[in-house]
Formats: sequence, structure tokens, C-alpha cells
Amino acid sequence: MTEPTASPAVPLLEAVAVTRYFEDGQVTALKDVSLQIDSGDYVALVGKSGSGKSTLLNLLGGLDHPTSGAIRYRGKDLSEFGDPAQFRSSELGFVFQSFHLISVLTAEQNVQMPMFESSLRAPERRERAAELLERVGLTHRARHLPQQLSVGERQRVAIARALANRPSLLLADEPTGNLDSSTAESIFALFDSLHADGMTLLLITHDPLLSERARRTWTLRDGRLGEADDDAKPESA
Ligand SMILES: Nc1ncnc2c1ncn2[C@@H]1O[C@H](COP(=O)(O)OP(=O)(O)OP(=O)(O)O)[C@@H](O)[C@H]1O
Ligand SMILES: [Mg+2]
Repeated sequence: MTEPTASPAVPLLEAVAVTRYFEDGQVTALKDVSLQIDSGDYVALVGKSGSGKSTLLNLLGGLDHPTSGAIRYRGKDLSEFGDPAQFRSSELGFVFQSFHLISVLTAEQNVQMPMFESSLRAPERRERAAELLERVGLTHRARHLPQQLSVGERQRVAIARALANRPSLLLADEPTGNLDSSTAESIFALFDSLHADGMTLLLITHDPLLSERARRTWTLRDGRLGEADDDAKPESA
């Protein structure tokens, strides 16, 4: 009855002594940051503007490279992944702070974009995009271009797109930063249900209502990472 299991010692995502300088060392965005995210974690990353949050998320998602230190996904250095784009599209959902939607594509086409890297056929892609747009409350805006959408609607298209390939890990940069409180609440509920279904989440947020729902809160201060005062919250066993 001994089933092979993944070693629990290997975190899903890990940063080891990561430092990121910009402008030939004149700007230190991150300083000696080490962290571990285990499968099933739900982490909120908070900190003042300019503290390094987006820089850290970009590094963790393989969109940028550390000046020194290492980022590992399931124990493997991100630089060893043959095709980083393939890794991102199959394992990772990423919500950019400024969304990065494709301006000439409609909402439903934007949501389908990551699915072109998957084996889904056109009808399945359309169905999945429709289902995701429904989950973020945008069924009625499926055929609209980004410029025809409000900022909060664009943000929700970006969330739907990040979920397209059912990623193991969702990295989201201020995913509810442009939403009114009741729309934000529906997105919080979506994150809760994704987490309940086994997704690992790391969300940057300024919204205490969102960080309260996470299991752990990390704070960046001037590029250095600390666990928040309340530390790991008790598991709701
Ligand atoms: N490409 C870059 N070139 C130079 N400096 C940069 C670059 N990207 C970020 N920085 C600097 O690194 C620091 C951290 O920036 P970052 O975008 O990570 O902050 P943040 O915590 O996400 O802020 P915000 O809450 O405003 O989004 C800032 O001082 C910023 O000016
Ligand atoms: Mg930022």
C-alpha cells in the first residue's frame, strides 16, 4: 500500500536569497528575499507602493530574472525550464497589475489566448472562455474589446484569462484593485473556491478584506520580506 508521493520537503515555489537591482545597481528593488510556497497555500503579499511587490511577483512567475539568488518551481530552477512560456501557460496563471490584454481581441478571445497552448479544440475553448467570463460576471461583455470595457471589467477579463488553463498556481498583482466592494467580494469568493479546489494562490493586495481571507500574509518593506504581525493564521481545521 505504499504509494509513491511527491516529497513534502519540496515546496511548490521557492525563492532563495533573491536580490534584484535595477539601473546598474542604483535601485535595489529586492534584497535577499527567501520564501516558500507550498501546494495549496493561499498567501497575501502586502507592502507600500514601491516596496518591490510586482518585482517579486514577476520573478516568481519567470517574467524577470533575479540579479542573484534562485527561483525554483517544484525544486527545479526556473532557468532550467527549456521553454519558460510553456511552463507559464501550463502551470501558472498570472494577473498583471496593468492587465496586458490584447487590444485588438475581444474579451472572450483574450480569455482564450492561453488555451492555444493547450490541446483544447475551438468549441471547447469557446465554452471554457464563456464559463470563465460568467464566473467573473462578464457574460454580457464577451464580445467587447478592452477599450470598450471599464477598468474593473478589464481587470476581471485578466483574471478569467489567468484561469484559462486551470493553473496549479495563480499569481495576481492587485487583482481587485479597480473593483467596487461588491464586485470585489464576488472575486474574493471566486478565489476562495479556487483555493478550496486545490489551487495555490499568491495575491498582491492593498485590500485588508482580501488579505484577511488568505492563510498567510507576507509584507515587503523596502525590498525585504517579513511575515506579517499576525503570522500564519490558524488553519480552519
Ligand atoms: N524596470 C525598472 N527599472 C528601474 N527601477 C524599477 C524597475 N521596476 C521597478 N523598479 C523600482 O523598483 C522598486 C519596486 O518596484 P515595484 O514595481 O516592485 O513596486 P510595488 O511594490 O509593486 O509598487 P506598487 O504598489 O506601486 O505597484 C521601485 O522603487 C521601482 O521604481
Ligand atoms: Mg506593483
